[in-house]
Amino acid sequence: MLKKLVIALSLTLCSCLAAALPSSAQQQPDTHARPWWQSSVFYEIYPRSFADSNNDGVGDLNGITSKLDYLHELGVDAIWITPCFPSPQVDFGYDVSDYEAIDPMYGNLKDFDRLVSEAKKRNIRVILDFVVNHTSDQHKWFLDSRSSKTSKYRDWYIWRDGKGDQPPNNWQSEFGVPAWTFDKKTGQYYYNYFYPQQPDLNWRNPAVKDAMLDVTRFWYDRGVAGFRLDAVDTLFEDPNLADNPSAPGKDKFGRPNFARIHNTKLPEVHDVLQDLRKIADKYDAVLIGETWTKDIAELKNYYGEHSNELQMPMDLMFGSVNKLSAPEFRRQIAAVDTAGGWPVFVISNHDIVRSYNRYGDGVHNDQIAKLMASLYLTYGEELGMQNNNPKRKEDVKDPEGITGWPGEIGRDGERTPMQWSTAKNAGFSNAKPWLPVPPSYKTHNVEAEMKDPNSVLSVYRQLLTMRHKEPALVNGTYTALNEDDPNVLSYLRKDKDEAILVLLNMSSTPHKVKLNLEPVGYTSPKLSVLLSTFQQPASAGSAEALELPPFGALIAKVSK
Ligand code: NOJ
Repeated sequence: MLKKLVIALSLTLCSCLAAALPSSAQQQPDTHARPWWQSSVFYEIYPRSFADSNNDGVGDLNGITSKLDYLHELGVDAIWITPCFPSPQVDFGYDVSDYEAIDPMYGNLKDFDRLVSEAKKRNIRVILDFVVNHTSDQHKWFLDSRSSKTSKYRDWYIWRDGKGDQPPNNWQSEFGVPAWTFDKKTGQYYYNYFYPQQPDLNWRNPAVKDAMLDVTRFWYDRGVAGFRLDAVDTLFEDPNLADNPSAPGKDKFGRPNFARIHNTKLPEVHDVLQDLRKIADKYDAVLIGETWTKDIAELKNYYGEHSNELQMPMDLMFGSVNKLSAPEFRRQIAAVDTAGGWPVFVISNHDIVRSYNRYGDGVHNDQIAKLMASLYLTYGEELGMQNNNPKRKEDVKDPEGITGWPGEIGRDGERTPMQWSTAKNAGFSNAKPWLPVPPSYKTHNVEAEMKDPNSVLSVYRQLLTMRHKEPALVNGTYTALNEDDPNVLSYLRKDKDEAILVLLNMSSTPHKVKLNLEPVGYTSPKLSVLLSTFQQPASAGSAEALELPPFGALIAKVSK
């Protein structure tokens, strides 16, 4: 989704999440008839933390509308707003109690319509987050469902008898709590892959599917340009409830592991994705999936055998690379380049520790942030925002952290308020924000970074401008260079006569890069620098020996 933001390379960008690397030209032969979402930079917005217009400490839709100029100037083409629907907020919006309204804490439908129309004036599309696997336990469907064994909506959820006084089987919830919740009223258990307040919908019931497909039409008719589909891996479960086999080790909550083969990634999910896609196509909309795949083959499946499922399944394997490593990123890019679809690299999001913390070495953090920006862009990452992890259990808001403390501290750290200025609470709100801002907001905020041509934000802005100007960054083939170099990730993006070279030093020592571009058609190439994160002459001269400082990034046009 962001492609979070794009990367210079190949990415398409998303702000939050993911950045996408464009596929190679072999896979994308017609480079000039691209659907809008391939040339768009997507930016994730976690509405609680973006901008607070009514000073209650929590962000809202009018806050987002008030920052559209900022997003437009940054170079964003689409925003993905994480759930803003009515919700008891047990999982901060991922527990939806009404799919066709806005939670009053964020505003109302009128505010939403205004946001869409103001965004449209700035050529920004709006993508919503569709929580398809489960509802809130306060949704009217579930309230009816749990009211009696014969209620109209009983079969909209997954109810089963226990085995004596034990749950129906050994499936586990993702959040460290039991996956089956006993409901005294009817004496049965319901199934919840996440929290008990998030009962799983029964997608085998055609009425559920029809109702959920209608939800997408409701929002498309209001001008929404697509959805990020939450937790698609978990839509279906084995109807016979076979126990999952055990697997080695323990999970982050200290529970024994199981291979979740009977309750995740069942083949039926593809039928649903195809149905969602048929409707999306009628509206020229995009479907982005939260897809936790273990390998490229699984990722590939999510595009659909006939490219008729998700246009952009997120490559979350990218986000699992926790150290700067040129060989590892090279391997990841090469792998996704073979998947055949439009890649979406995810480096961070509201569930993943910020890349500033994951890759920063404490000394070159801003330099590393610019380097990673040169690989793609992300949510709030355009400022070099840091995680602000809770230090005490009593401060934790995310129930996952409350359950898992201290081994699993939850996701509060990556969800702290956007840092707009040096004003109180980083200019996010006049009231105490729902999560605390880190002290680093004094240096890392929009106002200060706009004035500093060397800031992380300035580098993002240049990269985004470049991405919109240089077709090779969107359409070009990806060719890995110097594949044995353990320190510098080097590659070429080439579209017709245009070629762009990207060099990223992922190490803490300077490195000289020698390039031989002859095999790609340049016998004595000339380089003109488009962007470098360090002092570099405007013309880098020949490609024979370029020196990159620690964590330096250089992007240059190549000509004959
Ligand atoms: C994925 C979302 O990104 C996460 O924040 C949420 O807790 C789970 N899905 C459950 O909906």
